[in-house]
Amino acid sequence: MTTDSRAVVDATTLDLADPQTYIDVDPVWMWRELREQSPVHWNEPKGGVPGFWAVTRYADVVSVYKDTKNFTSERGNVLSTLLQGHDSAAGKMLAVTDGAHHRAVRNLMLKSFSPRLLEHVAELVRQRTRGLFAGVVGKGAFDFAADVADNIPINTIGDLMDVPQADRQQLVEWNNKTLARHSSEDGEMEEWLARNEILMYFGGLAEERRRNPGDDVVSALATGLVEGRPLPDDEIVFNCYSLILGADESSRMSSIGAIRALAENPDQWRALKNGDVSIESATEEVLRWTTPAMHFGRRAVADVEVGGSTIRDGDVVTLWNSSANFDEDVFPGAERFDLARTPNKHLAFGFGPHFCLGAFLGRAHVGAVLQCLRDTVSEIRLTGEPTRLYSNFVYGYSGLPVELVAN
Ligand code: HEM
Repeated sequence: MTTDSRAVVDATTLDLADPQTYIDVDPVWMWRELREQSPVHWNEPKGGVPGFWAVTRYADVVSVYKDTKNFTSERGNVLSTLLQGHDSAAGKMLAVTDGAHHRAVRNLMLKSFSPRLLEHVAELVRQRTRGLFAGVVGKGAFDFAADVADNIPINTIGDLMDVPQADRQQLVEWNNKTLARHSSEDGEMEEWLARNEILMYFGGLAEERRRNPGDDVVSALATGLVEGRPLPDDEIVFNCYSLILGADESSRMSSIGAIRALAENPDQWRALKNGDVSIESATEEVLRWTTPAMHFGRRAVADVEVGGSTIRDGDVVTLWNSSANFDEDVFPGAERFDLARTPNKHLAFGFGPHFCLGAFLGRAHVGAVLQCLRDTVSEIRLTGEPTRLYSNFVYGYSGLPVELVAN
């Protein structure tokens, strides 16, 4: 964001549905203005896109996440589906399912997230990250997104689901087409086709696991019982897909964001390098600072008051984690990147009953990158302009030219 546009733009007039807004404007500034001037903000309808509420203060965001009586996830949980008025996976995919069925499916999935299995997968994350770093550290400029970050999370979820190695690159390519596009020109048709390819792929894998189950999450979904019955095929497939979606993009964005933040905050890089801060505490601050999933959302199912504003039955309410995580009431000096920050109860993984199922793995990814930086790198040099994602949902970079100087 340039100082000029800061002077002329009134943050309450910006269109929060438009992905371009997050490229043109400094979001930290925009959220600060909204928290101060219009904390429960009505984003006006524009160009055929319906209006919706944007909740930006930490306490209000938490209160809506917790309030499953007045808000539902079953009519979408991100702007794109909420504004369409429905989500085709409603009631079939964990993140867009409410109530008892949500709890039962979540418990089934959690069984295959046992500490033993997660520890094993986290160890594979560390090994893979070390291997990727060995290929780029001390080798001149490269793209951290393409050469390192893009290869970590998809393989983790591949391990968790036991996806054959030979299929993983194809999954990365389909997945890249599904969520955040790189510009407004990229096709929606392509996005839709890629999503169907992923769903069909998991249909085949689930079928195979039903015959030959292992201790992976696909086997758990394909063979487990929910409320006394096996899960229907479409629910198995949607839940596999939601793991891929959740696991891949957000984790990548937080590791890429970590490199940029450390390069731009040399004192914090030194603190990490010298061991003045723990990897755990640094990981939490990277997650707060990068907040890759900018928002999630709900639809009101009754008239309800939030932060002094009346939300009407049927209204769309978006919860901006990216704003809540910079709320000075909870994070003193919020605009300072401070790896030693404690407490650090950020909302990068959401809050309440839908709290991220993969938080342990998200943390493992960021932690592995920070550990490799500390162990093998003496200096981080940004060597070109990062490429920003074009999205109103995921914040981050699809390209980050950098040089990592060896110890
Ligand atoms: C839910 C963020 C990594 C799987 C969520 C939610 C957030 C989030 C904010 C809440 C959604 C809502 O309230 O509607 C992140 C971030 C990650 C990350 C920032 C990485 C840094 C992962 C990973 C996995 C995963 C690695 C899979 C292994 C899921 C699933 C849900 C979820 C299945 C839905 C949970 C439910 O509805 O009960 N994630 N996530 N996420 N995440 Fe993550």
